[in-house]
Amino acid sequence: MGRSFLLPGLLLSLPLVTGWTTPKCLVTEGSQLPLVSRYFTLCHYSKLSFLAACFPVSNLTQTLEAVPRNVEGLCLSGSVSTLLPDAFSAFPGLKFLGLNLHLTRLLPGALRGLGQLRNLSFVDQPSGKNSLFLPPDAFGDLISLQRLHFCGPCLNKKAGVRLPSSLQWLSVTISCLQDSGELAGIFPDLVQNSSSRASWTLKKLDLSLNQKLKMATPGSLQGLQVEILDLRKTQLDAGAVKGLGLQKLNVLYAPTATAELAAETAAHFELQGLNVDRSKIGNISQEALASCHSLETLSLSDTGLTKLPPGFLAAMPRLRRLNLAGNQLQSTMLCMNETGDVSGLSTLDLSGNGLRILPPATFSCLPHLRELLLQDNQLLSLEGHPFQDLQQLETLKLDRNPLLNLGKNCLAALPALTTLSLLDTQILHSPDAGFWGARSLHTLHLSLPPLSAPAVLSLPMYLTSLELHVTPGLKHWTLSPNIFPFLETLTINGRGLKLGVQNASEVFPALQHLFLLQNSLDAFCSQDASSIFLWQLPKLQSLKVWGAGSNSRPCLITGLPSLQELKLESLQSITQPRSVQLEELVGDLPQLQALQLSSTGLKSLSAAAFRRLHSLQALVLDSEKDLVLQDSLREYSPQMPRYVYILQSKLACQCANAWMELWVKQSTKTYVHIRDGHLCPGEVRVPARDSLISFLWDHCPQTLELKLFLASSALVLLLIVLPLLQGARNTWIPYLRALFRIWLQGLRGQGNAGKRFLFDVFVSHCRQDQGWVLEELLPALEGFLPAGLGLRLCLPERDFEPGKDVVDNVVDSMVSSRVTLCVLSGPALCNPRCCLELRLATSLLLAAPSPPVLLLVFLEPISRHQLPSYHRLARLLRRGDYCLWPEEEERKGGFWTWLRSRLG
Ligand SMILES: *[C@@H]1O[C@H](CO)[C@@H](O)[C@H](O)[C@H]1NC(C)=O
Ligand SMILES: *[C@@H]1O[C@H](CO)[C@@H](O)[C@H](O)[C@H]1NC(C)=O
Ligand SMILES: *[C@@H]1O[C@H](CO)[C@@H](O)[C@H](O)[C@H]1NC(C)=O
Ligand SMILES: *[C@@H]1O[C@H](CO)[C@@H](O)[C@H](O)[C@H]1NC(C)=O
Ligand SMILES: *[C@@H]1O[C@H](CO)[C@@H](O)[C@H](O)[C@H]1NC(C)=O
Ligand SMILES: *[C@@H]1O[C@H](CO)[C@@H](O)[C@H](O)[C@H]1NC(C)=O
Repeated sequence: MGRSFLLPGLLLSLPLVTGWTTPKCLVTEGSQLPLVSRYFTLCHYSKLSFLAACFPVSNLTQTLEAVPRNVEGLCLSGSVSTLLPDAFSAFPGLKFLGLNLHLTRLLPGALRGLGQLRNLSFVDQPSGKNSLFLPPDAFGDLISLQRLHFCGPCLNKKAGVRLPSSLQWLSVTISCLQDSGELAGIFPDLVQNSSSRASWTLKKLDLSLNQKLKMATPGSLQGLQVEILDLRKTQLDAGAVKGLGLQKLNVLYAPTATAELAAETAAHFELQGLNVDRSKIGNISQEALASCHSLETLSLSDTGLTKLPPGFLAAMPRLRRLNLAGNQLQSTMLCMNETGDVSGLSTLDLSGNGLRILPPATFSCLPHLRELLLQDNQLLSLEGHPFQDLQQLETLKLDRNPLLNLGKNCLAALPALTTLSLLDTQILHSPDAGFWGARSLHTLHLSLPPLSAPAVLSLPMYLTSLELHVTPGLKHWTLSPNIFPFLETLTINGRGLKLGVQNASEVFPALQHLFLLQNSLDAFCSQDASSIFLWQLPKLQSLKVWGAGSNSRPCLITGLPSLQELKLESLQSITQPRSVQLEELVGDLPQLQALQLSSTGLKSLSAAAFRRLHSLQALVLDSEKDLVLQDSLREYSPQMPRYVYILQSKLACQCANAWMELWVKQSTKTYVHIRDGHLCPGEVRVPARDSLISFLWDHCPQTLELKLFLASSALVLLLIVLPLLQGARNTWIPYLRALFRIWLQGLRGQGNAGKRFLFDVFVSHCRQDQGWVLEELLPALEGFLPAGLGLRLCLPERDFEPGKDVVDNVVDSMVSSRVTLCVLSGPALCNPRCCLELRLATSLLLAAPSPPVLLLVFLEPISRHQLPSYHRLARLLRRGDYCLWPEEEERKGGFWTWLRSRLG
């Protein structure tokens, strides 16, 4: 059989018009991860190029079939109890795998083939009952694994799982661990045994959140070297860590009963870092302090400290970062008793301590301090130059203090200060806020009180970043100076800011990022009929608006030539909701790459809006209700953004949306993901079935679909023809001729109903199904009565005229057969060649004005979803025009009866 059904060359030159969509999975590129991050909490890591999140997963094999093979990150949630061998071997490039599947066991080889995997997480509900069984060599293939994370499941205490030697981070959190010794039973590699002296080194061992972990069997982690050990939210005391047998430990996070216990451990390991946050320590003795000389980082937040022992800093000469937040240190005594010694401290956190005053020499011993955090205290004034010695201070945060003024020249004493935060203070109530002194200041956060009379806000001119929190007032703030030549980031938080800014591009010529939070756009919009965004900033790259439900009407964001990222959220007025179209929200934004709309009142999406968004890559619609996707999008499809996410939104249960299913499945350029959990009227929730789609199937006229089908067939044919046009000039002409002829013959055929056919049945099938055709079908139809029907079949391999063009052959055979019988099976549909053969047959068939009889035979059950849309002929056929070939011998009789009755 030298001849093939269709010329291989012809087939190779055809485009494979299969859409890409991933039911249950959301696919994104790493650069767009922030847009859909809430679906990726399990593996939020944007440095991967391509990621997929699937949920809810109940059949892993089936779910993964739709996932592109080149994903680097995969996050799965659902319920799959057992991970079968080779579960992920189709994804050899996987670097990140997060599994929240209620797994109870991994079979050997489940993670085979994941040689590039670096991060692996098993997450489960922290019920304390779910145990996860791991075979000893579960991770044997993971030669690149760096991080292994168990959060939730309980591991078998004697599992004896081997760890890959590349492992650097191991975390077992929220599990059933009660004794640190169990860890050695689970992962024996961690511990030195008598025959091997090599010790394992980890960057981090995280055992936090194991609330039952209270025993530290001495020597249970003998020989292990760890840089960071995290025991937060366990019952293990920092003091108990000494006895574990660790060969090395640099940084410890642990609760402790007393400062002495923690200090002993610090001395034992010569710790560089110690964090005993939220331990009830109360006071620190001189002896404890003496043991802490090696510390570089010390965190004592929320430990109930009321005072520090004298010589606190002198005892820790290497200390660089000190966190004393959330204590009751009434006045700081850090430098009080020092004998002129200075500390090298660079970061000091004293927030939330109820400090009222800062005496003049409070920080005199900290000349190297770069960051000083004093938020949430009771400071009223900074008179007396408390900061005068902080020549290197860069960041000063004074938010949420009842501060009335900064004191004369207070900031002038800080030559290096770049960042100052003064949110929720009373500073602007005083006439001269005195920011002028700060020569290097470039980042300023400030609250503006309400105004009853117009006022001037004097700011340093060289700011690059400014955040203003606004309380609504009656009058305008005027900014001084008139121009902020370097301002790149501006955040305005709060309703009703009235800035007397006439021409924003003059005032903020360099602005790149603008955030308008809890802010109605009304104040930034022209008030005439056009309602367009007035801040025409030539360099603006990102604009985020969170409207807090207060916009009275849509404001068109347009004319921003550099804008790349736009997020509009909660613009819909709560009191007077109105529906908007995308064209009313976004206009001419030639550089826009990512557009995110959430609760804007968007009701309809049409192609018109995209005409002026040439660079758009990703569109996210979130929490929009009753959306109608206009079918103008289909024609515009090639220019649509590459990713369209419709999340937690409700598509309207209207026939206007009926075209959409086809589009979602067929568009090759646009990945469309629709997450819509709502029910259409009259639908009941069926798992794995989309309510909207079922609604459309049931309520929208089939004729519409027929038209769509014909339109898409025409498109398909066009796409088939185009490459031929470029490639082989000789092939497309016969093809068009064939189409024309079939149409012509159809026309002629309308007149003479009694036309004579050369064949009774033309059988369209694939190579794979040839066996069935020859063994079952042929004898039954061509055989003589009574066993057979004595019909004349046209089989491509047998009856095609040798030497004649294949397309001509198909056309001729079809028009000269009374009935066309399409044989469909799973392999046939998976084989792109077969699909194309069938597509050609069905397209030609439908192009004829009076289609001949078409019958479909399914050799195996094929779900509607497996069936490519252009074959969804079953919908077009009368119910009885297709039949499933039964496997059971006794039901085959029924099949033949059906076929006989159809063939007359
Ligand atoms: C999962 O799906 C695959 C492929 O669709 C199928 O072969 C398999 O039987 C399914 N497994 C279960 C447990 O349903
Ligand atoms: C692994 O995950 C952590 C955070 O969970 C991340 O910081 C790290 O970069 C990730 N590594 C890879 C290779 O994905
Ligand atoms: C000790 O470690 C070596 C190598 O890591 C291993 O082959 C041996 O089985 C271990 N012995 C015990 C008693 O665990
Ligand atoms: C420190 O606290 C302990 C108990 O928390 C107490 O016994 C001791 O007297 C306190 N020492 C000082 C100096 O306050
Ligand atoms: C530290 O200062 C306090 C009060 O300021 C004083 O009572 C105490 O004697 C001083 N201690 C040392 C060691 O200088
Ligand atoms: C705003 O200022 C820019 C730059 O100076 C100027 O080109 C533009 O015409 C001004 N627009 C208005 C409305 O004044």
